[in-house]
Amino acid sequence: IRCQSTSTGEAKTKKNILDNASNLLTNLLSGGRIGSMPTAEGAVSDLFDRPLFFSLYDWFLEHGSVYKLAFGPKAFVVVSDPIVARYILRENAFSYDKGVLAEILEPIMGKGLIPADLDTWKQRRRVIAPGFHALYLEAMVKVFMDCSERTTSKFVRLLEKEESKGGKTIELDLEAEFSSLALDIIGLGVFNYDFGSVTKESPVIKAVYGTLFEAEHRSTFYIPYWKIPLARWLVPRQRKFQKDLKIINDCLDALIRNAKETRQEADVEQLQQRDYLKIKDASLLRFLVDMRGADVDDRQLRDDLMTMLIAGHETTAAVLTWAVFLLAQHPSKMKKAQTEIDSVLGEERITFESLKKLTYLRLIVVEALRLYPQPPLLIRRSLKSDNLPGGYKGNNSEYAIPAGTDIFISVYNLHRSPYFWDKPNEFEPERFQVKRDSEGIEGWAGFDPSRSPGALYPNEIISDFAFLPFGGGPRKCVGDQFALMESTIALAMLLQKFDVELKGSPEDVELVTGATIHTKNGLWCRLRKR
Ligand code: HEM
Repeated sequence: IRCQSTSTGEAKTKKNILDNASNLLTNLLSGGRIGSMPTAEGAVSDLFDRPLFFSLYDWFLEHGSVYKLAFGPKAFVVVSDPIVARYILRENAFSYDKGVLAEILEPIMGKGLIPADLDTWKQRRRVIAPGFHALYLEAMVKVFMDCSERTTSKFVRLLEKEESKGGKTIELDLEAEFSSLALDIIGLGVFNYDFGSVTKESPVIKAVYGTLFEAEHRSTFYIPYWKIPLARWLVPRQRKFQKDLKIINDCLDALIRNAKETRQEADVEQLQQRDYLKIKDASLLRFLVDMRGADVDDRQLRDDLMTMLIAGHETTAAVLTWAVFLLAQHPSKMKKAQTEIDSVLGEERITFESLKKLTYLRLIVVEALRLYPQPPLLIRRSLKSDNLPGGYKGNNSEYAIPAGTDIFISVYNLHRSPYFWDKPNEFEPERFQVKRDSEGIEGWAGFDPSRSPGALYPNEIISDFAFLPFGGGPRKCVGDQFALMESTIALAMLLQKFDVELKGSPEDVELVTGATIHTKNGLWCRLRKR
């Protein structure tokens, strides 16, 4: 939620009136024990000029890990407690839906997994999740490598040009570069379409960015004016949005048509036995279309693809951006990562096997997700009245909530909670490093790895929902391993060839949020050949 900045006395008075009115309304509307929940005061006025999740953090420290936030005519319950988060996301998951988020995303993603109603979600999740099987992921390593190589080759070319003029460094907005890279990867991995956005700008690429921009606008604008009849035709940005959607939908429809025309039916086991490492098109779309008994209408398939395009693009670009932002401020950790890259890879390309050995790199990605979770808030709405359990320190109270309660699970607060992390605001990938205790049991510091043996990364199970890099419960991210592998490879390829430093000071890099945390004006970096 973004607020416009105002500073006159008159505006302040208006804000106070609005705050008081909204608190009153909230209490009247909510009723029950939710009324006894601590309430964040001054909700509206505190939100100016900085992303919402910063204010939610301050209120968490002040009011505890379950509190009520009155905002305008609406109230939200803000949860920063692992037990309560586990209850909502896993134990009683089907009593909650995506609420506000689904309302915003439905015009774009239709009945795709993120906004889908429960019945559609159950059916599609069963079909889509097996698509991310081990052989598919192994085949994706080549896609991640080829795309990352395209990016680093572009940097090498730019650097050589600079060197011919006597320079030794180039300056780039790495956030924009990661955005192009992530788009190329998701296009190829999900529907075998090469956006080629690292090197060119096409109408489809512009339409994808236009759509993402509109999704962000909708999630940060107070009044859903786009729901007003005729707004889609009368408001210029809404007309543009409809045009962008049509361009993407036409592109996806053509890909679906093509995949269906070349369909080779098989069951899941047969599909998984395909020689994924040799076939030309190993995409998820191929899997979804070829699967026997999974006949699905084109509209649903298009919604699925659109959802994965959006869910997998911005999140990955963001984690890479913040990983570099953090590393650039910690040159010794960048060196440590490069030492690992040199010893595991040397000058070689990454393989599925060598990727597993890049453990420090993987922990850098995970630590970047701890400090900058994508998205920083998980949004839910209770479908019926419910009782939230008491939680950890500072929160022993149970709360009854009525049906229709909007909830923000603040992953940002959980990940920076002083109750669960040493030096919560510091970048310390080592905090997750595998330790061997006297009995020879391997474990991540502070976590219990026996809860999830063989896990690729410290996850929500090991941390008992104190750490949610990819959410948790039945609606957990389907692309977690895809994303982790992709980010580790992209980061490794960059650091294999370049030293990176920030162009300005870290304070110059301003944060903004929509669905993800990103920068206001780009992540401007200086790259030097190693
Ligand atoms: C859901 C994070 C990459 C597809 C989620 C959720 C999180 C998340 C936290 C849960 C949302 C909720 O509970 O409300 C991330 C992060 C990524 C990433 C941090 C990258 C670093 C991807 C990729 C794909 C993907 C690459 C697809 C290829 C999805 C889908 C869902 C989802 C389809 C909805 C799952 C469902 O509701 O069943 N993601 N994601 N994500 N993600 Fe990801």
